[in-house]
Amino acid sequence: MADLRIEVASHAGVCYGVERALKLAAHAAESARGSVTTLGPLIHNPIVVRDLESAGVKGAQTVDEVESGTLIIRAHGVVPQVIDQARAKGLEVLDATCPYVKKVHMAAEKLVREGYQLIVVGESGHPEVEGILGHAGDAAHVVSTPRDLDGVDLARKVGVVVQTTQTPANLAAIVSALALRTMDLRVVNTICSATQERQDSAAELASRADVMIIIGGKNSGNTRRLAEICMDRCPRTHHIEDSSEIQRTWFEGVALVGITAGASTPGAHIDAALACINRLLEP
Ligand code: F3S
Repeated sequence: MADLRIEVASHAGVCYGVERALKLAAHAAESARGSVTTLGPLIHNPIVVRDLESAGVKGAQTVDEVESGTLIIRAHGVVPQVIDQARAKGLEVLDATCPYVKKVHMAAEKLVREGYQLIVVGESGHPEVEGILGHAGDAAHVVSTPRDLDGVDLARKVGVVVQTTQTPANLAAIVSALALRTMDLRVVNTICSATQERQDSAAELASRADVMIIIGGKNSGNTRRLAEICMDRCPRTHHIEDSSEIQRTWFEGVALVGITAGASTPGAHIDAALACINRLLEP
């Protein structure tokens, strides 16, 4: 295995919004008076959630479960009523909603204020989409494919915002279906490039690598998607949560090992995987 090379994808690991939420949570754990609780898991990464718990940051599913202290709102955001409810209970609210998600909230509010019927391109029931709907009034529709527009009574003025993790191709398909059915169409493209960048660089690396290692929570949708993309191009793809899962036998007859990680995987987990591979390859 003397000539083996290891390459990390050009875009891998935590995105800006998740990193910011993690820093806010770590700071709260150190400095807040009273208990610190996140509403839902802060990120889809069991190791990070465990580390946060050891630092004193608990998790709760609803505001009702939290008696006192600081409540952290995760990067996906929530409906405004949740923040109101927490403040009314006297909780200190630490809003870690990603600024890019906040932009979607503001765009939705503005379109509704200006009289547009709102279409949210996204996955129905996803927490980010629920949060957007909370800023969009009662008449908004969630559309995940052009087919979902069948049977929707469209107004003369239609405004579109997009869940940050949607693909440009899906947005384009929905916008072209809408364009023929309304007079005045306003599209605010709120897609965040972080997801696409991770997928594109994973695909590029997987098409050259002999073995791919994808690091991140098994419960993380974006990490699982990276693993699928890599598996299509590199059959020797392994999705791991922890570097202790890496095995020496994976590298037999291998010239290039590619590594990538989901948007909820801290850089320290990538470093740990690199250190582990180097250790396993020691003669
Ligand atoms: Fe924010 Fe984009 Fe990450 S919207 S949470 S930076 S994927």
